[in-house]
Amino acid sequence: LVQSKVYQQLEKNIIPVSYEELEAKAREHLEDKPFYYVAASAGAQSAADKNNRAFEKWQIVPRMLCDTSSRDLSVSLFGKKMEYPVLCAPIGVQSIIHPQGELASARAAAAMKIPFISSTASTYSLEKISEAYGEGEKWFQLYWSSDREVAGSMVRRADQAGYSAIVITLDTPMMAWREKDIEHAYLPFLEAKGIGNYLEDPVFCSRLEVSPQEDIKAAVLLWAKIFGNPSLTWKDLEYLRMQTNLPILLKGILHPEDARLAEEHGADGIIVSNHGGRQLDGVIPAIDALPDVVEAVGDRVPVLMDSGIRRGADIVKALSLGAKAVFIGRPYMYGLALAGEEGVKQVLRNILADFDLSMALSGKCSVAELNRGLLRGSSVR
Ligand code: FNR
Repeated sequence: LVQSKVYQQLEKNIIPVSYEELEAKAREHLEDKPFYYVAASAGAQSAADKNNRAFEKWQIVPRMLCDTSSRDLSVSLFGKKMEYPVLCAPIGVQSIIHPQGELASARAAAAMKIPFISSTASTYSLEKISEAYGEGEKWFQLYWSSDREVAGSMVRRADQAGYSAIVITLDTPMMAWREKDIEHAYLPFLEAKGIGNYLEDPVFCSRLEVSPQEDIKAAVLLWAKIFGNPSLTWKDLEYLRMQTNLPILLKGILHPEDARLAEEHGADGIIVSNHGGRQLDGVIPAIDALPDVVEAVGDRVPVLMDSGIRRGADIVKALSLGAKAVFIGRPYMYGLALAGEEGVKQVLRNILADFDLSMALSGKCSVAELNRGLLRGSSVR
């Protein structure tokens, strides 16, 4: 164990190590509205739990006597080396749970050498988040608004600010039926908490009659009006392709036929995700959708995944099923809620340490050695 790079960095935890206890502590710490905004699923509230439980259908069958004394967890994506096959998922409005919001999370991710994905719906502008992260891999996530010039402007700003890939989230053409938020009449974007990134967008601001400082309500209303775009089709991707030369990844693909369409339309990467169960009630768990998507595009398009990654073994399973990397979502939000930048750092450090040990105890020294042969089980069809 002392060989583990990550394990050696472990310091005393100021937050719970177990995911379940972390969530329970965040529940105690946060008011109802922000807690449920983070924790809840769409509709019947069960999709996030189903994501987590779906991992249990796959079991690791470890190999022995493999000399795992030295391990390399790095991967290469779009020609760049990443220390670990792990990124911080794009999560908007982070200031609702901590005043430093995305800035604290970005700093923590940078300290752990984990790429940070900045959300369109961030409290802070993408430029400020880029500055907080500093050098290194950071990606920008786009919610494609119904004003396509605003979407184009965001992508160009991200390119300028040093982001190295664009993630387009496809599963949110509109906000879902989120019962807790509806019950609480909670819209975290109100009071500009979630639209800081828009307020620094020149095209968005050009659509306002007066500056946001003079009439923030008008800015929020415009934001709500143009937030999503349910009329988009595959053909619309061409427009964004023309705005940037950065790799474009499509997030929210679950159907193998959509994976084929993504490839046909020039996507550089695919993210199998159901948005942590926050969008569609009754949706297939992401880990169950992963094998068919990987099969559909083979090695031609890198497939990443999120929705339900909680521990190191989950990462081993996702990579063995063909994901090139995974995103961490809610766990780092709870770390942020409880202890700001240090909390996020500890969550990430713990997950990496657990992943490193899970690799070693599976008899594997590198990510390239992970494949379906390590697992028993089957996806639900
Ligand atoms: C999200 N997610 C998300 N996705 C995205 O593309 N843009 C965004 O702004 C957000 N915002 C957001 C807010 C909150 C509070 C959560 C929990 C999630 C989805 C996110 O990127 C990721 O897909 C999920 O978090 C994965 O599920 P788990 O592992 O967190 O359950």
